[in-house]
Amino acid sequence: MMLDLFDAQQAPIQLADGAYYLKGFARPIANTLCTLLQAQLAEQPPQKMITPMGYMSVLTSSLGHVGWVSSRSGYGYVGCNPANQQAWPAIPKPLLHLASRAAQTVGYKGFVPDCCLVNVYNVGSKMGLHQDKDERDFSQPVVSISLGIPAIFLMGGTQRNDKTTKVNLAHGDVVVFGGTSRLFFHGVQTVKQANHPLLGQQRINLTFRKAM
Ligand code: SIN
Ligand code: FE2
Repeated sequence: MMLDLFDAQQAPIQLADGAYYLKGFARPIANTLCTLLQAQLAEQPPQKMITPMGYMSVLTSSLGHVGWVSSRSGYGYVGCNPANQQAWPAIPKPLLHLASRAAQTVGYKGFVPDCCLVNVYNVGSKMGLHQDKDERDFSQPVVSISLGIPAIFLMGGTQRNDKTTKVNLAHGDVVVFGGTSRLFFHGVQTVKQANHPLLGQQRINLTFRKAM
């Protein structure tokens, strides 16, 4: 218990120019976030998305004014969930505040995301190296919050084959990337079998973006 409290107070670790790992930043409210999310995801169940390159191994949903969707012909942000034509649920206030506070902690002031992309990783899911470049304004960072079982996150550079820095993201860990690293390639290695007391054999990653 004591160790948890100390873990939550660690200073940001730089992963690349403009990219930071905030170990345990969301830990104090991570369990509450899981409960909130489970209610939201019951409304908009995460779906398997197909991309022009094939199926993604994660399941995806969104919160916010816009959500990220993909099809065989391309991907981008839309105001309604194409599965049910409904608007995406709002980003809960505590989540919005957490994302803004994480961004501010590493120097990105005034970050107000309009999309929270929810990626659900089951054991064996991964995310290949990619750039987050469907947003309109690259002056705004991306904030990522991880919940549930751990996964190894890779932060690379401007080229797909650039060397990557690996970081093990656990329940309540946060990554913020902006500035020079805003368009850096990044991804997630295949999630290994583990069990989390609240989410079972699942990892949920939330990425907050200013998409429009
Ligand atoms: C992403 O890049 O969209 C996901 C990152 C993660 O799952 O940690
Ligand atoms: Fe990404």
